[in-house]
Amino acid sequence: MNCHTDNYSDSMANYLRPIEDQFALSRHNLSDTYVRRGTDASPACSRCHTTEGYQVYLATGQEAPLEASSHISCFACHAPHTNRDFSRRNEDSTTHLAVGGTYDKGPSNTCAVCHQVREPNPPIESSEPITSSRWGPHHGPQSNILSGKGAYVLPGATYDAAAAHNIGITEGCVNCHMAALPDNVVAGGHSFAITYEATSGSSTVDRVNSKGCACHGWTSDVVATTAVEAHQATFEHDLGELGDMLVARGWLNGAKNAVTTGAAAPTTKEARGIVFNYLMLLEDKSGGVHNPKYTASIIAAAKAYLESLGPQ
Ligand code: HEC
Ligand code: HEC
Ligand code: HEC
Ligand code: HEC
Repeated sequence: MNCHTDNYSDSMANYLRPIEDQFALSRHNLSDTYVRRGTDASPACSRCHTTEGYQVYLATGQEAPLEASSHISCFACHAPHTNRDFSRRNEDSTTHLAVGGTYDKGPSNTCAVCHQVREPNPPIESSEPITSSRWGPHHGPQSNILSGKGAYVLPGATYDAAAAHNIGITEGCVNCHMAALPDNVVAGGHSFAITYEATSGSSTVDRVNSKGCACHGWTSDVVATTAVEAHQATFEHDLGELGDMLVARGWLNGAKNAVTTGAAAPTTKEARGIVFNYLMLLEDKSGGVHNPKYTASIIAAAKAYLESLGPQ
């Protein structure tokens, strides 16, 4: 009864209700993509979308189709009844990413198993035609972007991965996304959220939990939000310009969120690589914050390459 006590005690580890309530608001809890159990022919979703598939994957390295599945919950990341504490299931291991490189940032190694690029099929360097509009890095490339690894390297290009968020934050994701909770609202902790909703005049705005950005010394959440949004606006402008160039080449759809298939689909490895990188930056969803230097240099190299091709 040490963990399941019904009485508040000084030790939060003995009193799990606040953590459960933070987690209740997390996308891990609310999403219904846990029904992606996989099939015999395509088992590949369960390891990142279900608690059971993740456990099987960590234990065996296999992607399993499951008979039953549940959303990502406490028992995905922790095994308290087995380990008798709240250490992480895969605490010590380093994740090898499908597109090259490793990720090793303490407690957030647990995140990188799922929040990483999936291998594109067909591969970038293959001459097999792209037939699926879902081709690309999938939706969670955050650990690649943060650690500055995994983007396709154009001939002659070098990408600068050494942003402070990569080399200076030893615990990775956890430092920012699981920071201490702000006063009176839910963000950080086991909500894993950077932002919370606040009212400003008559409208609702997203506000950044500055406790996750402690290195910057921002004096309030309002100051932090202004700084983060200014960076994101510059990034989105630059990425938008690259998207327009790719649409003009016919390699990206009009909504600028998927590769084109059929006759217009990119065929050379450079063209596919640029589309892959573009989608990776878009799907990262941090607006360049995870690794400002890496993301800016990827965009600059892609634009320079496209300009060197001359008008299409
Ligand atoms: C390597 C881990 C991994 C694998 C394998 C994986 N996913 Fe995901 N998927 C993620 C992550 C992480 C996210 C959430 C990313 C985010 O919100 O930033 C996600 C998001 C999604 C979403 C939500 C997209 C949205 O924006 O609403 C869908 C749908 C999805 N995945 C379907 C699938 C399907 C179907 C498969 C199997 C064919 C699959 N995933 C395999 C990691 C994975
Ligand atoms: C997606 C992965 C994930 C899920 C799901 C998750 N946790 Fe955690 N939990 C972590 C990580 C990572 C840490 C370490 C945070 C840190 O070092 O600041 C942690 C820390 C903790 C701690 C503190 C441990 C200590 O010794 O200080 C407790 C208690 C805990 N989690 C309970 C829970 C409970 C209860 C749930 C379900 C409601 C849950 N966790 C769901 C990843 C997760
Ligand atoms: C078992 C795989 C798995 C693990 C482990 C995991 N995640 Fe996730 N995460 C997902 C999936 C899948 C989604 C998206 C669910 C959906 O939208 O369908 C997600 C969603 C999120 C979101 C919300 C994204 C959005 O678009 O709103 C954040 C933030 C996040 N994860 C951060 C983390 C952090 C930080 C860790 C480590 C402490 C972690 N995750 C560990 C699979 C995982
Ligand atoms: C330096 C702090 C920092 C680190 C480290 C960090 N993030 Fe983020 N992350 C952010 C910020 C800031 C945003 C943008 C939030 C917004 O605009 O709503 C973000 C956005 C995201 C999103 C999009 C959904 C959302 O919550 O807005 C996901 C998913 C995510 N991060 C996952 C991760 C994962 C997984 C890791 C570790 C591999 C990680 N992050 C590391 C700061 C960080």
